[in-house]
Amino acid sequence: MLSPVMTNLLNEQIARELYSVNLYRQMAAWCDHQGLIGSAAFLDAQARDEDDHFQRFYRYVRETGSLAVIAAIPAPPSSWPDIRAVFQDALVHEQQITRAINALYKAAFEEGDFATVSFLQWFTTEQHEEERLLRTVHDKLRIIGADPKGLYWIDKEIGKLAERTAGS
Ligand code: FEO
Repeated sequence: MLSPVMTNLLNEQIARELYSVNLYRQMAAWCDHQGLIGSAAFLDAQARDEDDHFQRFYRYVRETGSLAVIAAIPAPPSSWPDIRAVFQDALVHEQQITRAINALYKAAFEEGDFATVSFLQWFTTEQHEEERLLRTVHDKLRIIGADPKGLYWIDKEIGKLAERTAGS
């Protein structure tokens, strides 16, 4: 059983995960519009992962007998100056999500809610992996700089990484 405080905190995370789905879908659409189909595929895979995260929180709150609440989700940005800015935003976003998961973990621990501590364990590992993956892409883009030929090849490489994120 969740306390009212934990229920509210978990519902706030449900909203963050839904925002993440929309953010990555919008980033994928922007990349497609720019002809960056590898990056679009990668970001679509990220969106599917975020939908899985949403489902996990949503189901968990319901399973405890508490009320899962779907809040209004703000629109994500819909354009970026270039592909580097997309992945810079994605990395910063994941760092914020990591902080939110850590705060949830701390709150659950301090309440002595060890079922929720255990549930959140998977997310602490997942956030480590998401940050690592996005940092890898961000670094590749930083290294090629403004070289358009390099961008073509890097986009293909980023597309290959989509296969690794799918279903993870
Ligand atoms: Fe659901 Fe990328 O955090």
